[in-house]
Amino acid sequence: MNRRELPQLWKVLVVGQGYVGLPLAMRAVAAGHDVVGYEIDENRVKRLHAAETYVEDVPSEELARALATDRFLPTDDAAHCAGFDVAVITVPTPLRDGTPDLSYIESAAVTLAGHLRRGATVILESTTYPGTTEELVTPLLEEGSGLVAGSDFFVGYSPERIDPGNPTWGLGNTPKVVSGIDAASLAAVQAFYDTVVDTTVPVSGCKEAELTKLLENTFRHVNIALVNELAMFAGDLGIDVWESIDAASTKPFGFMRFTPGPGVGGHCLPIDPSYLSWRVRRALGQPFRFVELANDINDHMPDYVVRRLTEALNRTRQAVNGSRILLLGLAYKANTGDDRESPAVVVAERLLALGAEVRVADPHVGRDHVHGNVERVQVTAEELTAADAVVLLTDHDAFDLDLVRTHARYVLDTRRRIAPGESVEYL
Ligand SMILES: NC(=O)c1ccc[n+]([C@@H]2O[C@H](COP(=O)([O-])OP(=O)(O)OC[C@H]3O[C@@H](n4cnc5c(N)ncnc54)[C@H](O)[C@@H]3O)[C@@H](O)[C@H]2O)c1
Repeated sequence: MNRRELPQLWKVLVVGQGYVGLPLAMRAVAAGHDVVGYEIDENRVKRLHAAETYVEDVPSEELARALATDRFLPTDDAAHCAGFDVAVITVPTPLRDGTPDLSYIESAAVTLAGHLRRGATVILESTTYPGTTEELVTPLLEEGSGLVAGSDFFVGYSPERIDPGNPTWGLGNTPKVVSGIDAASLAAVQAFYDTVVDTTVPVSGCKEAELTKLLENTFRHVNIALVNELAMFAGDLGIDVWESIDAASTKPFGFMRFTPGPGVGGHCLPIDPSYLSWRVRRALGQPFRFVELANDINDHMPDYVVRRLTEALNRTRQAVNGSRILLLGLAYKANTGDDRESPAVVVAERLLALGAEVRVADPHVGRDHVHGNVERVQVTAEELTAADAVVLLTDHDAFDLDLVRTHARYVLDTRRRIAPGESVEYL
């Protein structure tokens, strides 16, 4: 029998309705489950009820369809958590002064413990350091419920792999790593995800699953840092690093393409590897040197962008102070409106601090996200001509790059998306 025809339809509780939780809730509704989207942000709950999306990968029409089934209940009322079969925790895991802040996970686990019943399954999806599921979540669930994990209820961890804005790989067709605190828990966790994704990948323990997510993100972080450092050296040596990356990418094995940029942003790369290095230092007293080096290089990239811009203005006897600089993009990656931890924001702040007149165009980032004294503008011929320098920070498809190339006096293209020209320089 096809697993989608299995009769299990559960009451699924998704705790946290953000970039991770909302798409999962939608998939669970589509799989036929009764879904409660528990969210402490009252405003988000109101928007969900009005079928008004705030997550780009979940269109408003999809929300409206889910609400119309009467099997999706967004709520900030914890009473609706009662009676769940499967609960998935998708709450934030930020860093506070370089230290993991697990308070959101703790509070979600305490809420769930009060509603836990025999036979239920609790799954953590938030990115965190190895050990969190077994050492933090499980004891909180046991203490609050009086039940015993493994025999009375099941617990597991399954890392999230969504790539916002990726048109090819979504939640449904990306293989999902699953784990449990014991064999019965693994079976329960896998049975649930088998109803919502095409492929599940079981691993033997929660720590292995927790480490998998951190390995994936640390891999990207380190490789981006590698090409960023190369880009800085190559620039000073007068070598075109982009051409070398293109050439290396023709190797059919043993090489994976990464490209330089103004730094890393979003909720994952600037944060997740530090969860791992914090854990390594805490547990073993040793630094995780790769992560620390990658942080150092990637954090430095906005300063490098400003240095390159300063040098370019200097060549025409201009100073950053008083120059009109147009930044293209505030989001941390192309075609998304997510400006969390975005290096573009840091570039804007550095330029403002140096006395530049900073103007920013970003069709995806909401106008309420303006940082400091920055004018939000559209990319027009007049705007481009009036700028002393233009910097392409986020390569949104919506930008008319030919227009930029034609009208800008000078462009620093940090993504190498604009065709070569006299006024164009690459990072
Ligand atoms: N955004 C991504 O691309 C991505 C990808 C993979 C993994 N992750 C990880 O997934 C987790 C969630 O990230 P996100 O981007 O969805 O965050 P988010 O901030 O978009 O959403 C989290 C939501 O949880 C809510 N919340 C906080 N505490 C709560 C509680 N106790 N009860 C109910 N709701 C609560 C918040 O109000 C928020 O709406 C993080 O650990 C993150 O690292 C994110």
